[in-house]
Formats: sequence, structure tokens, C-alpha cells
Amino acid sequence: MRTHTLTGRGRRAKFLDDHDGLAARMSRLLVGQSDAIETIVPFIQMHQAGLSPEGRPIGVVLLLGPTGTGKTRTVEALAEVLHGTSKNLMKVDCGEFQMEHEVAKLIGAPPGYLGHRETQPMLTQAKINAAASDSSDISLLLFDEIEKAASSMTRLLLGILDKATLRLGDNSTVNFERTLIFLTSNLGAKSIQRINKPDFGFEAMLPPKEPEEGARLQSIGMAAVRQKFSPEFVNRIDSVITYKALDRDACEVILDQILSAFARLIQQRLGLRAFRLQCTAAGRNQLLEIGISVEYGARELKRTVQRNFIQPVAALVSSGQIPPGSTVILDAKGGEFCILLRQ
Ligand SMILES: Nc1ncnc2c1ncn2[C@@H]1O[C@H](COP(=O)(O)OP(=O)(O)OP(=O)(O)O)[C@@H](O)[C@H]1O
Ligand SMILES: [Mg+2]
Repeated sequence: MRTHTLTGRGRRAKFLDDHDGLAARMSRLLVGQSDAIETIVPFIQMHQAGLSPEGRPIGVVLLLGPTGTGKTRTVEALAEVLHGTSKNLMKVDCGEFQMEHEVAKLIGAPPGYLGHRETQPMLTQAKINAAASDSSDISLLLFDEIEKAASSMTRLLLGILDKATLRLGDNSTVNFERTLIFLTSNLGAKSIQRINKPDFGFEAMLPPKEPEEGARLQSIGMAAVRQKFSPEFVNRIDSVITYKALDRDACEVILDQILSAFARLIQQRLGLRAFRLQCTAAGRNQLLEIGISVEYGARELKRTVQRNFIQPVAALVSSGQIPPGSTVILDAKGGEFCILLRQ
């Protein structure tokens, strides 16, 4: 039995006894963004309980905030939890729909129009249904970088967000009632970033941040969104989540995730030639030292691991220098990385 209780300060439900429920499984994949989990899970529970309003998508959630803080990862993590793989989601890259005429790629050209046969609409019912799975009937639909979409596309979105339907070029309709829709945007991210410095070093010694700060960040993001989109569009968004810059604790957990993913890849791809990986405390610290970036978020951490661990190890693999079953260790001395081999 799951118990929810309201926290003293906020209106949002906390998951006290979630055990191995959605929120717990999500938080193992998505680090340091508990607001996102606490906002999204209730939409899924409402759908699972059969209490979602009819004639609307399961939810329309706008994810705002700086680059590399986990906006896209949130939807991938949800796909992993609901469907067993992060690939079970439909992603529409709005950067590909910046010109007014490009929206035909989304809905297909009407019969008789030039290119009718060649343009397979991107958003068909079959594709939406295929994004669900045996374990969950929820399809996840992500419109990435929504601020880049042409206004013809945002107009099209109005119908999807409000009535959960879309009319295609061939006049058939697509139903989105079992779809949870995410919109991501960097709008306002620069201003959010300026006051959203994570707790590194000196900052960590300052008194804890005001609880109102979350609301302040949100209002900055929303002001930027209101400037860009029509009131009708903004009005169709059920919830807005503002992502925080990742602090050192979050980066440490993400580093563990990156290193485990690398170890899994070696086991999966190299079969009998596989080996073990280790990272000394000095190696870890050096990765964090270089990889933590307020500007680029966890992407910089991923790149740091790639440059200093994955690529050197790949070079050793391709020249046949790692005996199967041995251990490859990442260490650092005097600010330089070194790779050791133990047989
Ligand atoms: N909070 C997080 N928890 C776990 N991993 C994260 C988190 N944030 C970022 N990452 C890692 O960094 C990568 C990039 O993050 P993501 O794609 O979610 O960034 P984003 O917020 O969508 O940025 P952008 O605005 O540039 O699209 C992810 O694939 C993931 O590996
Ligand atoms: Mg993204």
C-alpha cells in the first residue's frame, strides 16, 4: 500500500512509501531532479487508476532549464521504467520543423498534393501505439526544443494538447488519449542558470537555498515561455518543471552511472575478450574535477569520461593489449590520468 502525504511547505505529494514503485525506480535513473519525478508520477497514477480526464492526453508537461541537466533523460528514464527500454518513446525534434512547410513531414501531405506518396507522416496512430508496450499502455511523446518549432507546428500542437486528436493530411485522425506529452525548452535557461548556481565548494558553506527559489526559477522560465508562445498554447500545459543545475553529489552519482554503463558495454560487446574496469579515488576525483560544468551539465562529464577513459581503453582493445579477464584501472597522478593493467 502506498501512502502519500502532503508536506508542510508545499502542496505537492511526497512519496513516503513508494518502495519499488515508479518514483523509486525513476530516481535510480534520474539524479537530483526530485521535482520532476514528483510532478510526473501522479499523471501516470491517474491514468493507471482510470481517473484521467477523457478527451485529453494523459498529461502535458513542460520541462525547462539549462542544458545537460536531465530534461531528455527524464523521458528516457520514464520509458525505461514503463516499457523496459529507453528507446520506447516517440521523439519529435522541433529543430527539424523550423520552416512553415516542414509540418507536412509531421502529418503527411494531403492526397493529390505533390509528394503525397513519399511523405509518410511522422505522427501516425500506428507509431503512437508502437510506443506503448505489454507492460504499459502509455505512449510517451516528446517534442524536443519546442521553441524552435514553426508557428504552424505550434498551431497543430494546440489540437493535440487540448483535444488529444490530430488530423493527418489524408484526413484520418490520430488519438493521443493514452499519450503522455513532454515539451522541452531552453527558454529562460540563461537567466535560470545565473541564479541557479549549484553547491560547489564555497557555495556549499552558504545557508541552504530558500524554498521559494524553485518558484522564482519557474516564474523566470515561464516569463520566457509566455513571451514566445500564445496564451492558448501556454494554457494547455498541465505542469511546468524547472530543472536545477546539477550539484557535486548529483555529478558523483551520474559518474557512477556512466562508468557502469561503460562496464556493461564491455561485457555485452566483447564477449570472451571482456575485462573488468576500475577507477581509483584519484581517477574519480580527476574526472569530476574536469567534468563538472555549470555551463554544459552532465554532458561535459560524459565527454570527460569518453576522452580520458573510454577512448584510451578502446585504443588498447584495438591493438590487442588487454588480455581477457584482466582489470583495467583508471588512476590519476599530479593532475594527469594514467591507465594501469592488472592481470
Ligand atoms: N539528472 C540527471 N540524471 C542522470 N543523468 C543525467 C542527468 N542529467 C544529465 N544526465 C546525463 O547527461 C546526458 C545529457 O542529458 P539530457 O540529454 O537529459 O540533457 P537536457 O537537459 O535534455 O539538455 P538539452 O537542453 O541540451 O537538451 C544524459 O544522457 C545523461 O546521461
Ligand atoms: Mg534535451
